[in-house]
Amino acid sequence: MSESDRDHDIVVWGATGVAGRLLAEYLAGQYTPDELALALGGRDEERLGSVGADIRETTDAWAEVPIVLGDATDPESLRALAAETDVVATTVGPYTNYGSPLVEACIETGTDYCDLTGEINWIREVVDEYHNDAVAAEARIINSCGFDSVPADMGTLLVQSYAAAEHGAPCEEVRIYVDDASGGVSGGTLASFAELFEAASEDPVARETLRNPYSLAPPGEREGVDRGARRLARKDRWRSEWTAPSPMAAVNERVVRRSNALLDYRYGREFRCSEVIPTGRSLGGAASASLVAGGIGLFTGAMSVSPLRSLLSDVVFPDPGEGPSEQQMENGYFLVSVLGRGTGDDGEFTVQAEFGVDLDPGYGATARMLGESAMCLLRDEIDSPLEGGVLTPASGIGMPLAERLRDIGFTATVGEADG
Ligand SMILES: NC(=O)c1ccc[n+]([C@@H]2O[C@H](COP(=O)([O-])OP(=O)(O)OC[C@H]3O[C@@H](n4cnc5c(N)ncnc54)[C@H](OP(=O)(O)O)[C@@H]3O)[C@@H](O)[C@H]2O)c1
Repeated sequence: MSESDRDHDIVVWGATGVAGRLLAEYLAGQYTPDELALALGGRDEERLGSVGADIRETTDAWAEVPIVLGDATDPESLRALAAETDVVATTVGPYTNYGSPLVEACIETGTDYCDLTGEINWIREVVDEYHNDAVAAEARIINSCGFDSVPADMGTLLVQSYAAAEHGAPCEEVRIYVDDASGGVSGGTLASFAELFEAASEDPVARETLRNPYSLAPPGEREGVDRGARRLARKDRWRSEWTAPSPMAAVNERVVRRSNALLDYRYGREFRCSEVIPTGRSLGGAASASLVAGGIGLFTGAMSVSPLRSLLSDVVFPDPGEGPSEQQMENGYFLVSVLGRGTGDDGEFTVQAEFGVDLDPGYGATARMLGESAMCLLRDEIDSPLEGGVLTPASGIGMPLAERLRDIGFTATVGEADG
């Protein structure tokens, strides 16, 4: 338990949803009530009770898991919840619709916060609206603590920390390769994705956020050398293989660039980064890369057209609350490699980090990444010069998160690249 006089160490806000339930189950399975004052937060007492009952059934240690009631649209209830809590870990999305009042409540009460958002339009809103207040309140508001964007952000931090320590200089460029991934997607995630396109269709600031690769950097610093996420298949010269655009690049690349800016340009002012999906060296690799690029283009094209977006959301996507199948979650895994190149005291160098685990990336793995982010905040296991603000995993928590994830079975390695 923490030494603060607040009732709850961590509240899982949204514990009845797909990701929230997994997060609550993970934390209760990993820590005893003596180690962690955990509470389940949400708007439906009965359903929260049933999550608690399932936890009691599977983990003997927990005789009771307290419940905190509130509503994402009722700021007063969020202030009361935040005031009694050291760290709020929230899975209540779409964050564009439900996120801001909780961020405000956490800042007002000096409560640390972490979430799973990949909605860059909303992150931009929160950066512009709340960063300075969060700095003043010394509240750490950490966005994107799931598969979006921990592997990319922490993988880059691993590479850059190693380069600085071993070669005396950061890498000038980093490429994030989603080497392997298998898992499912929930209705909640697709609803959040649709919300991003909805925002872009209505709001010029959201459109600019999607267009500008530096849109999550601090105001006044939203430009740089990168041109934005790739859209076409391309032969990658570093690995001599074909690559397709990554659907998560729009989020992950911006989060990495925000980390660099928040860390006072530790990776350099001219730092470049990109994320891609490698598909192999052969002609088949070229064909797969083109197919993936075409598929992503078609999907994003359809999501940009309002009637098609409504059709996909209402008829094709699963409803919010519906998760991937048991089988998808059980058989899931991912491996992300981050390659960095630079020039140091000893000449040119190439560094490689690997980040992965044998768990469904968006759910089993995401629950652990968010849970351990919350534990870092709770236990003040932080390696960052920043004491508050709207932050990223790498800039707001830093290396202790990689250490915690390693301790629970994640691969998080870094060293000289082969060849
Ligand atoms: N970064 C990543 O890699 C990653 C991975 C997975 C998910 N996500 C994101 O995480 C979010 C959650 O996904 P999910 O699949 O768990 O969604 P979900 O199953 O739909 O869960 C949403 C949660 O929000 C709660 N909620 C909705 N409106 C509320 C309100 N007014 N007041 C309080 N609670 C409210 C729901 O409560 P009820 O049960 O009462 O409706 C539910 O607990 C999404 O934004 C998704 O994109 C990100």
